[in-house]
Amino acid sequence: MRRFLGLAVLGVTALLGAGVSAQAPKPAAAAPERIPLTDDVFKTVTLLRGIPVDTFFDAMGMFANAMGNDCTYCHDSKAYFDKTAFALPTPRIQKARQMIVMMNDLNRRYFAGQTRVTCFTCHQGNNAPSSDPDFMVQYGEPTENPNLRDFPTDARQTPDAIFGKYIQALGGAERLAKFTSYTAKGTYAGFDTSFDKVPVELYGRAPGQQTMVVHFSTGVSTRVFDGTSGWMSGPDTPLPLLILTEGNLDRARLEAMAAFPTGLRQAFPQWRGGRTAIDGAEVIVLQGMDAAGQPVAHFYFDEAGLLVRMIRFTRTPVGFVPTQIDYSDYREVQGVKIPFTRKVSQTYMQMTVELTDVQPNAAVDASRFARPAPYTRPRA
Ligand code: HEC
Ligand code: HEC
Repeated sequence: MRRFLGLAVLGVTALLGAGVSAQAPKPAAAAPERIPLTDDVFKTVTLLRGIPVDTFFDAMGMFANAMGNDCTYCHDSKAYFDKTAFALPTPRIQKARQMIVMMNDLNRRYFAGQTRVTCFTCHQGNNAPSSDPDFMVQYGEPTENPNLRDFPTDARQTPDAIFGKYIQALGGAERLAKFTSYTAKGTYAGFDTSFDKVPVELYGRAPGQQTMVVHFSTGVSTRVFDGTSGWMSGPDTPLPLLILTEGNLDRARLEAMAAFPTGLRQAFPQWRGGRTAIDGAEVIVLQGMDAAGQPVAHFYFDEAGLLVRMIRFTRTPVGFVPTQIDYSDYREVQGVKIPFTRKVSQTYMQMTVELTDVQPNAAVDASRFARPAPYTRPRA
């Protein structure tokens, strides 16, 4: 599985590295905050039209995940090295288009147009979904996926109590109130670095701004959430300036808030709680619902009350696609517990940031949270 996913990212990196921008009709400069859609950027997209580019990659990641394979399961293997090869027709791309039509038809006819049936519903990480009953499933050891959006709720797990315990476990409201900014240094390792560690810097300011700067060997990647808007700019982004939208934007908001967590209780208008387990350890899960009552985010707390996982689902035309952030290695810095390790899992990407040095309340210039300049490749 790891190998497959590794390949998946090679695919993305090949695409991103070569800079899809070359074929974008007009980059952001003309109309700064117009969000580029698939129609503006990709030549061969016939069904997944009119969606933001970040959402499109979540959909592609969903395909790779559902197949249990990498991007080149459907795309020409030349896409590893040449992003233009993603546009080459293949029989499996054609098949996948038929599947999109079939899926939409099922959902429209039988599920009131909701994306209840997705690629994953049938495929479950397999190119050939099984049609036969399975005794292992019926009589074997049950396995529980803690990330399911639909779970047995437990009314005793209230957001007030759980967030209250969390704040206490971190050092208490009084200390947290005095913690209003930070700078941090550490390492980043992901598929896009072949898991080599490269330097990373992190900046944050209460109540919810965050910037991460990753020093790839190919150039500097800047990821900003300024409190309202979010952007990515670097050798690793599909456009010189990727504007975050929908679930990805909200995930950036939650990530920034997680450093100053007193506001998290208010992050969603509705919550429900339950119990599950992560890697055999019991956890409490709180599910945040958006204004429409749709479950979109999960927060998991361990026995000690600390946040160990956060998930934000992005709504795409092919279903909800999760991004998962696992927090670990909590250490006390000036009386406040801070997670020194975070691992981010996406359907097309996995990476780990390990902090080595955290400076609470260090001065952070407002310009750190400004919209980054569109990325230009350094001249060779
Ligand atoms: C299950 C098959 C499948 C997998 C796996 C898959 N794709 Fe796709 N991809 C498609 C289909 C189908 C389209 C065309 C969609 C449409 O017509 O609306 C497409 C289109 C694209 C395009 C647009 C090409 C262009 O320039 O017109 C890009 C880029 C792309 N995919 C990238 C990826 C990446 C990156 C991954 C891996 C994370 C991936 N795909 C995994 C089926 C797949
Ligand atoms: C209702 C169940 C169902 C759904 C939903 C579904 N598939 Fe399939 N898919 C199948 C079955 C069954 C096959 C045939 C597998 C075989 O031949 O053994 C298949 C085959 C495929 C193949 C060809 C695999 C190969 O071996 O060449 C691709 C690609 C594919 N699906 C992609 C998708 C994508 C992408 C989605 C979501 C948009 C999707 N499927 C949704 C059931 C489904």
